[in-house]
Amino acid sequence: MPATWLDWRSIVDKAPPPPVLTLTPLNPAFQSDPYPILNQIRQDHPVYRDEMAGLYFISRHEDVRNILTDLTMLRHPANAEADAVLTRRMVDGPTAPDRPSRPHSILHLDDPDHARVRNPLAQALYRRAARFKPQVEAIVTAALDRVEGQASFDLMSQFALPIPIDVIAAILGVDHDRLGDFRRWSEGIIHVLNPLITPEQTQEMILCGDALREYMNAMMVERRAHPQDDLVTDMVTLQAQGAELSDDEINTNLSALLVAGNLTTTDLIGNAVRLLLTHPDELAKLIADPSLIGALVEETLRFEPPVDVTARIASRPMEVQGCPIRDRGSMMLSLRAANRDPAVFDDPDIFNITRKRAPHVAFGGGAHICIGSPLARLEASVAMDMLFKRFPKLRLKAPDEAPQWRTLPFFRGLERLEVVG
Ligand code: HEM
Repeated sequence: MPATWLDWRSIVDKAPPPPVLTLTPLNPAFQSDPYPILNQIRQDHPVYRDEMAGLYFISRHEDVRNILTDLTMLRHPANAEADAVLTRRMVDGPTAPDRPSRPHSILHLDDPDHARVRNPLAQALYRRAARFKPQVEAIVTAALDRVEGQASFDLMSQFALPIPIDVIAAILGVDHDRLGDFRRWSEGIIHVLNPLITPEQTQEMILCGDALREYMNAMMVERRAHPQDDLVTDMVTLQAQGAELSDDEINTNLSALLVAGNLTTTDLIGNAVRLLLTHPDELAKLIADPSLIGALVEETLRFEPPVDVTARIASRPMEVQGCPIRDRGSMMLSLRAANRDPAVFDDPDIFNITRKRAPHVAFGGGAHICIGSPLARLEASVAMDMLFKRFPKLRLKAPDEAPQWRTLPFFRGLERLEVVG
């Protein structure tokens, strides 16, 4: 049907879609409230190409889900077209060019390597996460003991940050006398997520990465000789039983658990606490019925997910919502926009822990779906449950102050969250 004058005016009236770099906390408006911006994009430009970044930005839930679960899509940045500058930057990473090349983590592998490395790791990690609740409870109890008695405390640095680090240390089997080093390395290597990394942070990241790699190598040698009940032992045992994994691949992928899992889980806990303290009705529901803890975690993942986006590379020329996508075109999938899509969620901009459940995409999907999701859910549930049982009157120290969001592109979490116990 030919377009009428009115149709054309509605097209012309639309603001052009923004460059994706403005869809990060570097843009103060996006940092303070990304949702009106993403809602507008999802409505007006559900699929568009950003020529400068060399990628397509996709924001409708249905499109994001379909692409995530399409097993023919690719992930390795070297498979992206030459124009995909943002994606291809990841081929070299931010480290110096004279550094020894290391295997990619599963996040950037394609099959058959992805399945070869991911399957044994997933098998070992899922099995451990399924019986790790008592250890997580002990770690959360220790964190609560440290803040007990303080007039007020920063929930991020004293509670949300140490829990995931200590949990992954316990899963890996880090020796007690190296826990301090391990915590320092974990915080140092997280700079790899920061595209705005300074030369000093790069240096610190390299030093921490090298120290962690050396320690992990020593652990593998030690666990082969003296097996223990830990993930490092699981991996060297699976390797000895025939899993095709090099030592370097085991090392890289165990370290990747810290990079991918620590800050994200910290942010899930921080975001959940802030949401409850700013939505008293939802907090009242939870206090009245503690069995809602799982629903609280899922609604936080939907409403304020820690990770903005994930990526896929087209394995063929295709079309999404009528927009042509080139073969090898890089696609940035907005998990945050998809999670507020009114086509899937009723009243999407309302935080409601008793809402009718629909599948959010905070953990991505398909072959690359977050391998740490069972562990992250366990940690967040235990942390929230025990925090509000220990501090039933928990409140914000400065309720009228705007939240202090971190300025790390593609992640959403709090810098600080001062609370009174
Ligand atoms: C709330 C916490 C977390 C969030 C929101 C989160 C989110 C994500 C997302 C969005 C992806 C990309 C999935 C895709 O492209 O389809 C991912 C992948 C991944 N995550 Fe998580 N994650 C969290 C916690 C963790 C934890 C605790 C670990 C490790 C213990 C972890 C390890 C990984 C790994 C290794 C991958 C790559 C998987 C693959 O490509 O096969 N994550 N995560």
